[in-house]
Amino acid sequence: MMKAGLVLCFLAALSGAQGVNISCSQPADIFFLLDDSRSIWTVYFKNMITFVKELVGQFDISTTSTRIAASTFSEGNKPQFQFGDYNTLAEVNHAFDTIHQSNGGSTQTHIGLEFAKNSISQKGRPGVPHILIVITDGASSNRSETVKAANATRSEGTEIMVIGVGSLDRTQLEEIASKPVSDHVFTVRQFPQLSSIGSLVGQKACPDLGPTDMPMDQAVAEKECQQKPAEVVFALDKSSSIYILDFKKQLTFVSDLIKMFDIGKDKTRVAIVSFSTNASVEFHLDEYYLKKDVTDRTEKILYTGGNTNTGAALKLVNGSVLTSEHGVRSNVPHVVIVITDGRSQKYLDTQAQAKALKNSGAFVFAIGVGSSVYDQELKDIASAPSDQFVFETTGYDALPSIKNILAFRACEQTSQASGRR
Ligand SMILES: *[C@@H]1O[C@H](CO)[C@@H](O)[C@H](O)[C@H]1NC(C)=O
Ligand SMILES: *[C@@H]1O[C@H](CO)[C@@H](O)[C@H](O)[C@H]1NC(C)=O
Ligand SMILES: *[C@@H]1O[C@H](CO)[C@@H](O)[C@H](O)[C@H]1NC(C)=O
Ligand SMILES: *[C@@H]1O[C@H](CO)[C@@H](O)[C@H](O)[C@H]1NC(C)=O
Ligand SMILES: *[C@@H]1O[C@H](CO)[C@@H](O)[C@H](O)[C@H]1NC(C)=O
Repeated sequence: MMKAGLVLCFLAALSGAQGVNISCSQPADIFFLLDDSRSIWTVYFKNMITFVKELVGQFDISTTSTRIAASTFSEGNKPQFQFGDYNTLAEVNHAFDTIHQSNGGSTQTHIGLEFAKNSISQKGRPGVPHILIVITDGASSNRSETVKAANATRSEGTEIMVIGVGSLDRTQLEEIASKPVSDHVFTVRQFPQLSSIGSLVGQKACPDLGPTDMPMDQAVAEKECQQKPAEVVFALDKSSSIYILDFKKQLTFVSDLIKMFDIGKDKTRVAIVSFSTNASVEFHLDEYYLKKDVTDRTEKILYTGGNTNTGAALKLVNGSVLTSEHGVRSNVPHVVIVITDGRSQKYLDTQAQAKALKNSGAFVFAIGVGSSVYDQELKDIASAPSDQFVFETTGYDALPSIKNILAFRACEQTSQASGRR
């Protein structure tokens, strides 16, 4: 699947222009958290505002497309405007123009982050990517509190981008930002140079095109999933490339996804296979029929570490889970959702097992997390067309952004198909 950023890079390269403005039509809720401490000269603060306006100008501003909110921080936080307050580009630009610099003496980034987090969770639209852009010129006054606040913000699914100006400590910016750092941390020496990175930041902030980030309301997805009998099997990566915290995030994501299905003995049933060096069945399709039992059991899956033997997991799904011994219903669709953050050690085996599984009639989704995944392998694992069955996210923190659309697509298969082919 091609990323929007990539397409735009090609366009920029073709036209030979460095400063090509993008035009991002993907909806998003973007919160700007701007440092207004007194170490920033007034004229530089104005440069920052100009830069922010240039950035905002690349988005399609409206109530249904991209919405903007902002606050400033130094000694404490000062709310400026909230999502929904201003809904045209002109109004948003005017709101930025009227921001007054507080000139506070410290850089209490953590207080700004906490405000932004709460604000996003209260006013951000579900099903739309939440992006926080922090611009700062200095080290935060309380580094550990700042890291904590940034972690909490990311764990709610907000993507954090950090722009540092001046000779500051890049490590501190990286601690705040989402992964991969290359897409989320930007630095320039001086405020006037900010405009040189405007189109780059715009590209990175524009949610990827394709199904991965297609906005989809939770209610729409849940409706699609009602009354859909299906066998849904998850194959979850627990190899050592995953940190234990990330593994927990994966389980939370799967559990949240399951909550959207219409679970029941005669409706959607769920099984889970986990894999690293070996694969094992966590639970079968005929073990739990109550939603709460399924999600509770899911959250208890243990992390082991090891290699990434995706082929073994697919083989187990075909040979042990989707079998009559374990009550598989042959007259309902079989949906397999593979989540991995790396490439398998035995590529050919993975390819062969995926093929066998698809030949037996299952619809296979492949979710790639982070930057180490191998696009071609995800495509080989997944059913065709890959723009419907392959999803990629920048990291585990970004998984929630695909929840609604993935649930929708999985349930959509179950209405378009009936039974194993
Ligand atoms: C990009 O947009 C900015 C602000 O909207 C404008 O000043 C600038 O001329 C544009 N650059 C190009 C290359 O179109
Ligand atoms: C950071 O905040 C914590 C909690 O309020 C406090 O215990 C710690 O002393 C602060 N550190 C600094 C460097 O101010
Ligand atoms: C923030 O998250 C990182 C990894 O996700 C973790 O290593 C670190 O300990 C966390 N820090 C705090 C203060 O929670
Ligand atoms: C994987 O399975 C093999 C063969 O059954 C066994 O020898 C090995 O210990 C297992 N490895 C892990 C990490 O469980
Ligand atoms: C997959 O399952 C089908 C049906 O149970 C079986 O016929 C086939 O041999 C299996 N394929 C592999 C590669 O195990």
